[in-house]
Amino acid sequence: MSNIKRIGVLTSGGDAPGMNAAVRAVARTAAYYNISCLGIRRGYNGLINGDIIDLDARSVNGIISRGGTMLYTARCPEFMTEDGLKKAASTCKYLGINGIVCIGGDGTFRGARDLASMGIPTIGVPATIDNDISSTQYSIGFDTACNTALDAVDKLRDTMQSHERCSVVEVMGRHAGHLALYVGIACGATAVLVPEQEMNFEEDIIEKIRMGRINKRSHFIIIVAEGVGNAIEVSRRIQEETGIDSRVTILGHIQRGGSPTARDRVMASRMGAYAVETLLAGKSNRVVCNVNSEITDFDITEALNMHKDINQQMYNISKMMAV
Ligand code: F6P
Repeated sequence: MSNIKRIGVLTSGGDAPGMNAAVRAVARTAAYYNISCLGIRRGYNGLINGDIIDLDARSVNGIISRGGTMLYTARCPEFMTEDGLKKAASTCKYLGINGIVCIGGDGTFRGARDLASMGIPTIGVPATIDNDISSTQYSIGFDTACNTALDAVDKLRDTMQSHERCSVVEVMGRHAGHLALYVGIACGATAVLVPEQEMNFEEDIIEKIRMGRINKRSHFIIIVAEGVGNAIEVSRRIQEETGIDSRVTILGHIQRGGSPTARDRVMASRMGAYAVETLLAGKSNRVVCNVNSEITDFDITEALNMHKDINQQMYNISKMMAV
């Protein structure tokens, strides 16, 4: 029998659609097991400042379909200092919090690891539209962001076709190209530029556009991951070297909002519930992961040292589809 009576939940770092669904899953699972649940607001800041709300089963009504996070989110430089960490740990002890579910990305998990080292049990839940967390094949928010970007590119395609133009679309992803690759395949892009793969600009972009023109293609879509650098420069070169009118669209934070897809809601529900059960099983310093459709958990320190690359097979497919 677990001696856990009260847990906390926080969201930290960049928000992702489905964070609310994960908060709801944590609160409802806690209610199911008859333990109390507190919402810690504004990430780790809430632990330092005592910015805490009660989260019973009913206080998370209706949030499964809402983007953003009802707990707010923030980065917290003070938490990275010894003093900040001590303050956070003493808030947990004062409030009788026996465990915390920390929802976010790698930065959030580093915070969870540090808190665990102070004797507060922690479990991380991966949520980021970048899908760049090495230990898990899937992070909450990725599917919604892919669909948001795809919807925007489909709209761009209409006008690009009318004007026989090239559309260069920059998508988020920080240093990773997972989002760009998925969107690129899903929208049928002429080329996808990701930071993980070197590209021969002449061969992979200019030549393809020239051949496309010869084969009567009216318009072109180029997806650029933000980690590659300058989408404006890519567009300028295309226009200069092919003579085709080119326009740049930087999708930006629109990709972080919106009602989560079914996949994100279900994944958030599974991961949130799993996190609470992991705490109840007496574990700490673990991160919840999705591996081959199963939910499992890894040691946070080990997880942070793992490496995840772009899916090479998918990258090859993106090129094959653009002949
Ligand atoms: O990690 C999510 C993400 O949206 C990245 O794709 C992007 O590089 C970054 O956050 C933007 O951060 P901010 O919201 O602080 O501008």
